Amino acid sequence: MEKKAELYRGKAKSVFETDDPKRLIMLFRDDTSAFDGQKIEQLARKGKTNNKFNYFIMKKLEEAGIPTQMEKLLSDNEVLVKKLTMLPIECVVRNVTAGSICRRLGVEQGMELKTPTFEFFLKNDALHDPMVNDSHIISFGWGTQEQIDEMKALSFKINDVLKKMFDDAGFILVDYKLEFGLFDGKLVLGDEFSPDGCRLWDKETRQSFDKDRFRKDLGNVIEGYEEVARRIGCPLD
Ligand code: TMP
Ligand code: ASP
Repeated sequence: MEKKAELYRGKAKSVFETDDPKRLIMLFRDDTSAFDGQKIEQLARKGKTNNKFNYFIMKKLEEAGIPTQMEKLLSDNEVLVKKLTMLPIECVVRNVTAGSICRRLGVEQGMELKTPTFEFFLKNDALHDPMVNDSHIISFGWGTQEQIDEMKALSFKINDVLKKMFDDAGFILVDYKLEFGLFDGKLVLGDEFSPDGCRLWDKETRQSFDKDRFRKDLGNVIEGYEEVARRIGCPLD
């Protein structure tokens, strides 16, 4: 598979065209960003860790019947993926309160929700990813009612799979963000699932093992990601 021109450079990943018009190469860089790109640092081993972590999780989700864009691990930092037309929407599932929901609703952090909750956000750093609802998505043409229903159903199904997997490894899956796209008109999970886009707390100590370590300057960010990988049985080398 030949790597061609860079198609898109995000905050932590770059995407390259290939000789197959329906396939892309996703490159995980060591760049780490928070607060919509206001804080950016390079963290050694981060690209490799997230690439392998993401591939491991996506394969688990495929096994559980979730369609993903994942095709083949190419190197430490690169993976071959299906070329999706991404919906400009982020899907967030929460099991326990943390982050923006505490600020928006004035609730304390660490409350277990009666049932998992679901939120849509618009992907727009300049506007700090504002929350949007189903009606906005349809009225602005970002997605259809069918796609909304499917994104919600898939996001909750993913919760069943991952909550159990992390629980078995001694972690609480507090919340996470997913992005979907279309491949031949079909909704497929894209982007990545890694400790960059979720919150994982140790069940005993409630310490963070995710990007909150970076956001809050707690140190040992990648060591935390590596510990999660080790406990879920994800090979990093
Ligand atoms: P929030 O508490 O900031 O709304 O984030 C909820 C979860 O979604 C948290 O695990 C971080 C993740 N997330 C991202 O990774 N990127 C984003 O742009 C947003 C809005 C959330
Ligand atoms: N995607 C966001 C960013 O990198 C995540 C965050 O705010 O932490 O800015």
